[in-house]
Amino acid sequence: MSFYVTTPIYYVNAAPHLGHAYTTIAADVMARHHRQRGEQVFFLTGTDEHGEPVADAAHALGIEPQALADRNAERFRALAPQLHASNDFFIRTTDPQHEAVVQEVLARVRENGYVYEGTYEGWYCPRCADFKAENEIDAGNRCPIHHIELTREREENYFFKLSAFQSQLEELYAQREDFVAPRTRYNEALSFIRSGLRDVPLTRHKLTWGVQVPWDPEHVFYVWFDALLNYYSALTYAPGADVSMWPASYHLIGKDILRFHAVYWPALLMAAQLELPQHVFVHGFLLLDGEKMSKSLGNVLDPFAVIERYGADALRFYLLRDVPFGQDGSVSTAAFELRYESELANELGNLASRTLAMVHRYRDGVPAAVALDGELDGDFGGLAREVAWLIDGAELTGALEVIWQRVRRLNRYVEERAPWQLAKDDARAQELDRVLSTLVVGLRVVSVLLHPYLPEATDRLLGALGVEDRSLACAAWSSTQALGARLGELEPLFPKSS
Ligand code: MSP
Repeated sequence: MSFYVTTPIYYVNAAPHLGHAYTTIAADVMARHHRQRGEQVFFLTGTDEHGEPVADAAHALGIEPQALADRNAERFRALAPQLHASNDFFIRTTDPQHEAVVQEVLARVRENGYVYEGTYEGWYCPRCADFKAENEIDAGNRCPIHHIELTREREENYFFKLSAFQSQLEELYAQREDFVAPRTRYNEALSFIRSGLRDVPLTRHKLTWGVQVPWDPEHVFYVWFDALLNYYSALTYAPGADVSMWPASYHLIGKDILRFHAVYWPALLMAAQLELPQHVFVHGFLLLDGEKMSKSLGNVLDPFAVIERYGADALRFYLLRDVPFGQDGSVSTAAFELRYESELANELGNLASRTLAMVHRYRDGVPAAVALDGELDGDFGGLAREVAWLIDGAELTGALEVIWQRVRRLNRYVEERAPWQLAKDDARAQELDRVLSTLVVGLRVVSVLLHPYLPEATDRLLGALGVEDRSLACAAWSSTQALGARLGELEPLFPKSS
């Protein structure tokens, strides 16, 4: 089994913000979960460095696009480990190997008869690097995303014959209802297709910052075709990858780039005779004050600052817990602090420290290898399977919720059984053993399942439980790992801020 997950590649026109961190975190949770299943995983992220968004930003700073790309690509590259992202490769579209694949694949698309010369005339947003139809623009000819005035473009281009794929795309959507999720996004893409596909520019004549068109060096490829091909090109040269891992299992994207991934990309792959990805999952926007968080709107939260104060795990948890994955959601420092205190510190942190403290106090640190309390069988028995099933559907918030219900169940269990009362009565020693061991195993199960979300905290917690195995098998209720051996010590997992 292999699992290949991607994030969009990020524009290097500015520094990373929380919106970029969000997709990377989500992809990382999926990658880590699939590694726990013993699958061969490849997780790709990187930077999109060509086109107008980057050329214009560099121009405004009075530097060369390559210099701006080099500077900001490093910031994106540095963000990944700070988020605890376990990406296997970081692609830059200025990598010469990528550029060569773009030229090769798009030349093949032309040989296959899907490229012709024409004139483009219409609206264009240089920030989106997107050509806009009349019905897609706001009053005053403005971009609905960036609110800037659109430019009127007239250019001699090579076109990609998108319209040739009208019926094949309709068939794809009819046959594979899970090609795009959530359902609202599937419907949106399908209705775009049904409204009638028009051919799109494949090259730009006015720009020089891009991958040169091999059959006409006066042109560079339109940045979106160059960018989309990263998902395929990376496999041809990233260490540890190979093209047999194509097609991707999941492309995770934000809703702003749906059309490129759900319409242009499958059409381009068909034109190049390459297989289509299995799933495109579309998440919503992180909103600040009701608007998409974006550098150009100036309303961004700096992920580096949040990580410095609370750690990457807390950020990962907050974003996937507070904003249902697949929908838009507001983020704020107040909501972040609330989740941190009430859930991470109080519910998980206290459960862990109480459980360990009781085993140390009453059993000299060794939870007995006894049968567990059957009362929790129903809650924990099929849990790992349920989580795997939800993550298979990219339901990352849903999976976190079912795990968290068990964290709460264990907290209730402590209160119901009151081990401190049992400890006062020697005749109830066996009962105390059962309760403590049930708590230790429950903690092990939730820790293994939370590992993709909270890799650092769960490493410490599982370390204190003496458990080295991080595989999904270790989340089985029937496994006896962590019983019968001395537990270690644990510093507070989520210290309260002073
Ligand atoms: N370079 C293109 C993508 C090419 S993929 C072949 C691009 N880059 S971007 O940097 O502008 O945005 C990339 C992605 O960042 C978005 O699709 C989304 O995944 C994420 N986000 C950027 N801002 C966001 C929010 N405010 N909220 C959530 N995610 C957002 O588009």
